[in-house]
Amino acid sequence: MDTLELIDRSRLPKHIAIIMDGNGRWAKERGEDRVYGHYEGVISVREIVNTCGELGIAYLTLYAFSAENWNRPKGEVDALMELLVNTLRKEADELNRKNVRMHVIGDFGSLPEICRQELNEAINMTACNTGLNLVLALSYSARQEITDACKKIAVKVANGELKPGELNEQVFHQHLYTADYPDPELMIRTSGEYRISNYLLYQLAYAELYFTQVNWPDFRKEHLYEALLNYQQRERRFGKTSEQIQTTSTQHV
Ligand code: FPP
Repeated sequence: MDTLELIDRSRLPKHIAIIMDGNGRWAKERGEDRVYGHYEGVISVREIVNTCGELGIAYLTLYAFSAENWNRPKGEVDALMELLVNTLRKEADELNRKNVRMHVIGDFGSLPEICRQELNEAINMTACNTGLNLVLALSYSARQEITDACKKIAVKVANGELKPGELNEQVFHQHLYTADYPDPELMIRTSGEYRISNYLLYQLAYAELYFTQVNWPDFRKEHLYEALLNYQQRERRFGKTSEQIQTTSTQHV
């Protein structure tokens, strides 16, 4: 029996977040430039986007470029931006045909003009789609996102639009870049690194974390199935006891 058949399609996460790591090492192991790893990484992106669409996953967030990634050598940063533009030009129509809706989170204004243009085109073209929501985290920093949310709230309080007593988790969530998306239930990081790296720090509070040794350019749908199966074998307790969870799930059957 293959892994897909073992997955319970009625208990899939609504939102999967991925840290696509290991492109550089994958390329170096082959005696190639790091950028070659990013190019090959796009093949994995295509396969995982298609697979999530086929499975009926509602949201997939990919960490495509962190705010810290600006500190990489200029040649690599330029190559990543060019790769983003070329990929959007090549794939946007196909994404649209597959009913995928594109979104971006992060410091959009810091991206080069040509990237913003292509991203806006893809976002507008796919705005009415109802299938997979593909969220690209670009120039993204979770600490910056939380700081920005605090700033927006502070301005509202200063203007009298919001009273400090009215601030609660729900209201705070509405000021994050991800205000319109559910929190991820599963976060996958490839390449054997065990860190969150400033990714969705607020939203991952209750996410199941899945780490694999596989480098991103080797990550294929079978690896995603493995992650989903592993996710389904875990007991999500949200601070409750095992007994409470079992009683609730029996009541719901
Ligand atoms: C991390 O690997 C990966 C990135 C910083 C970039 C990810 C980008 C892509 C997969 C391609 C572009 C994506 C889209 C959506 C078009 P790393 O370079 O840190 O690898 P290393 O840890 O081995 O050095």
